[in-house]
Amino acid sequence: MTRSRVYVARRLPQAAMERLGEHADMTVWPTDEVPPPREVLIREAAASDGLLSLLTDRIDGALLDAAPRVRVVSNYAVGYDNIDVDAATARGVVVTNTPGVLTETVADFAMTLMLAAARRLVQADRYARAGRWKSWEPMLFLGQDVHGATLGLIGLGRIGSAVAHRARGFGMRLLYHDVIRREDLERDLGLQFLPFDDVLRQADFISVHTPLTPQTRHLIGAEQFKVMKKTAILINTARGPIVDPKALYQALATGQIFGAGLDVFEIEPVPADDPLLGLDNIIVVPHIASASVETRTKMALMAVDNLLAALSGQRPPNLVNPDVWERRRGHAAPELRL
Ligand code: DGY
Repeated sequence: MTRSRVYVARRLPQAAMERLGEHADMTVWPTDEVPPPREVLIREAAASDGLLSLLTDRIDGALLDAAPRVRVVSNYAVGYDNIDVDAATARGVVVTNTPGVLTETVADFAMTLMLAAARRLVQADRYARAGRWKSWEPMLFLGQDVHGATLGLIGLGRIGSAVAHRARGFGMRLLYHDVIRREDLERDLGLQFLPFDDVLRQADFISVHTPLTPQTRHLIGAEQFKVMKKTAILINTARGPIVDPKALYQALATGQIFGAGLDVFEIEPVPADDPLLGLDNIIVVPHIASASVETRTKMALMAVDNLLAALSGQRPPNLVNPDVWERRRGHAAPELRL
């Protein structure tokens, strides 16, 4: 039996590379720090049956048209806004992602940012290292309390509810807004559903957990910052473009809100001259919320299993576009790539 050829857009944890290598011929983009340039991705895709992509790789109709052999795109992320899923579905290409395995790790990190931003941890660390610490001072680095505060979750999917679980332990009052109401979680976790603006108005901490879609792009902008408390802290571990960065800058620079902790940005990496980087009341980290050894390994193994399942004609466990599969079962149209 001929082995499938796959292109892997970045080196992944060893266990996943080994598993993939046992079952397929793979080419791996060798540079850890940067993704393959578009032309390399297209050239490699054109010679491949499957792609293992990252959130840094744009997979669209043009790329798939140039790669008629590709039957599956397995994304090494739970989010898949880097993939034009409709374009893939229209071409009979299976798309998969890595849900679930990173939930708890990302929720840990949302809490990390919340605590660090509230207690001005990074600012205080810089201050102490710079030799500016003269004595114990009553007013030095006064922050906000997390315990007993009100948390507003924007989005109550897996990660949002894992954050709610943790926040309960801090005795926080829990508010949320989502397009889907979760009465089960309201009961179990003591969450209160409110209209979007009311969550923004009442929350001391606002943590974003929605996917990036045309509806959520710049969901939090100038109008939303206006209704927030002056002591509010915004946390984003979801996707950068959900928050309008210019409005965020204004809100932080003018004291409209107290602070922010961001793992994700509209443009990644954040350009060195981005004005946000000049502010003290923001914590900026390079999209690492899921970055624990264990979780990144689980994500990689899941992405490999999805890829191999689709290539061997089995329904991948984490199918984003089940339509492709259903069409196949109901006797695929000739143009489908399955
Ligand atoms: C994802 O999986 O979507 C994260 O942003 C990276 O882990």
